[in-house]
Order: sequence, then structure tokens, then C-alpha cells
Amino acid sequence: MRSFASDNNSGVHSDIIDAITSANTQHTIAYGDDVYTHEAEQVFKNLFKADVDVYFTFLGTGANVLAMKSSAQSFNSVICADTAHINVDECGAVQNFTGASLKCLPSVNGKISVSDIAKELHSIGDEHHSQPSVVSISQPTELGTLYSVDEIRAICDFAHAHNLIVHVDGARIANAVAAINVPINEMITDTGVDLLSFGGTKNGMMYGEALVVFNKSLSANVKYFRKQAMQLSSKMRFISAQFTVLLNNNLYIQLAKHSNSMTKLLQSKLNEISQIKITRPIETNAIFAKVPVSLIEPLREKYFFYTWNEEENEVRWMTSFDTTEEDIEDFVSCIKDVIG
Ligand SMILES: Cc1ncc(COP(=O)(O)O)c(C=O)c1O
Repeated sequence: MRSFASDNNSGVHSDIIDAITSANTQHTIAYGDDVYTHEAEQVFKNLFKADVDVYFTFLGTGANVLAMKSSAQSFNSVICADTAHINVDECGAVQNFTGASLKCLPSVNGKISVSDIAKELHSIGDEHHSQPSVVSISQPTELGTLYSVDEIRAICDFAHAHNLIVHVDGARIANAVAAINVPINEMITDTGVDLLSFGGTKNGMMYGEALVVFNKSLSANVKYFRKQAMQLSSKMRFISAQFTVLLNNNLYIQLAKHSNSMTKLLQSKLNEISQIKITRPIETNAIFAKVPVSLIEPLREKYFFYTWNEEENEVRWMTSFDTTEEDIEDFVSCIKDVIG
């Protein structure tokens, strides 16, 4: 089966498999006190040009939960977009682990702005209301759109001026960096982001994500929370060795560039099909489109994908690091066949 459902439906890049294999020789100390993990931590520091703390996790949800746990108590709230993964797709994990509430703002194509955030900053110091402590944005957003570097900086400046911490859910951060074509340290370190969930899985790893902590005052208890949240891998070297290979020589950007370019190719072919209406700006590796309802099931039998909004017949198609031009050609010819 080939699929346009999600970039985590694809397999694992061969360099990553090799990295796992080459880490699979000697014994090492468990739980991250090993050469592979120390090397990967240094790779992250070099990448961000900052003395960051790095916590490897199994899951993106795990990295997000740790980020929130480090910055929100049960009486706090987390300001995020209504479309945020932490709101829609994490089964209340943040609320469960932190007790904090989410203040979900109406978003425009997945994005929130400083003026939206400002509206939530009332009742500060009032014990009857949860107290905002974090702003969480996704880069790219769940709708595949992007915050510009200036927009991230503006959110950070505003948040910090109001004693709020900034978290970026970067499950697909590589796609954002590849699309904007700016060094990642300029997008994240220099703008003032405090916490980044750095995605590996969707970018071509087998599994593994990382919470990168820029504001070290937030690190104090993360290692304890990681254990409690069941994200502390005993054979951590198999996550860290993957990250070292992914980040060295910019493999992560190369893979994301390919994925983004396959989306552009698909977009150009879909533009020729009048029955398909693209609904969102296409900025990374996702396409949202309204399609005739009769097309959905027959097409899904050949290429699995998700319906995003049932009422609107809006579907999501995503490309991946291993999507080929042949996949796109075949998918588009299937669409044409089904339309008839
Ligand atoms: C924006 C975003 N954040 C986080 C995640 C992490 O998910 P998981 O816990 O499945 O690794 C995903 C996965 O779909 C995502 O799209």
C-alpha cells in the first residue's frame, strides 16, 4: 500500500536503519548515560547554537506533555489554537498530566496572533480564574501553514513581556525550516522560544522525538516528569543515534524538502482538476481539499487518507520523505479515473 494519509504512514529512511544497526553492537549504560545520547545532545546544541537541554521521548505527545508539565501547574492555563494537536489529538494528555486547562483560540488556518493572545490576558491574579502561563503554537500548524520568523518573534516578545512561556510543537519542524529556508537557530533560538518539541518520526525516523529546552530554568524537574510520563527509554541510544544521523549533514532538511516538493507537485496537478477545491494555503507537506463525496471511498480504497471535515467533504493529503513522483502520477490518474 502507498498512502497520502500522513507522513507517519511511511517507513524509515535507510540511513536511520543503518544508524540503529551500528548502535546495535556493544553494551552501553541504559537510560541515556551513553555515548550515543551524549553525542546527540551535542548535535542539538550545535544545531541551535545554544546550550540547550535535550530530553528524548518516544512520542510527540510525550514531548508536548513534558513541555507543559515544566511550565504549567494545575491552576494555570495553556493558550493555544483550537486546531492544536494538544487540544484535538492528544486525548486530554496535557490536562491529565498537568491539571492545567487549555484556552483554545479561534485560529485562522491553524494560526493564532498576538492580538488573539492578548484577549486572554484578563483576570491575572484573580483566584477564580485559571492563570495563563504558556502559549503553545505549532510550526508548521496542523493545517500545514507556517508562522514567519517575525511572527514567532512577535509572539515570544509579547509572551515574555507578560510572563508567559512559549512552546513550539515542532512535530514537523523540519518541514517548516525547509519551507522557510532559514537556519533553524534563527527560527527558534533567536526568536526566544523557550521549549520546542522536535519531531523525528514524521521526518523519516523509526520513532523518537525530543523536548529541547532553551530556557533552562524550566528544566529543573523534567527528568522526573519524563520518567513518570513513561517517556524515559532504557535503550535510549536507539533514539539518540537516529537523531545524530538525521541532524548531521542536514539530512532532516533534505528529507523535508523532498516531502514539501512532492506536495507542490501534487498541488500543481490537482489545480488542473476542476472538481477539487484546495481549501488552505499550501506551505509545507499537507494539502486540504474539498472533493466530490462520491470520490472519497473509491479513492481511499487505493490510497488511504483521512477526511478532515466530514460536513464539508474536506480531506487531507500528505506527502512524505519517501513519496515518489510515480506515487503522485498514479494518485492523480486514480482521481481522474474515479471522476470519469
Ligand atoms: C502537530 C503534531 N504534534 C504532535 C504530534 C505527535 O504525535 P505522537 O504522540 O503520535 O507522536 C503530531 C502527530 O500527528 C502532530 O501532528
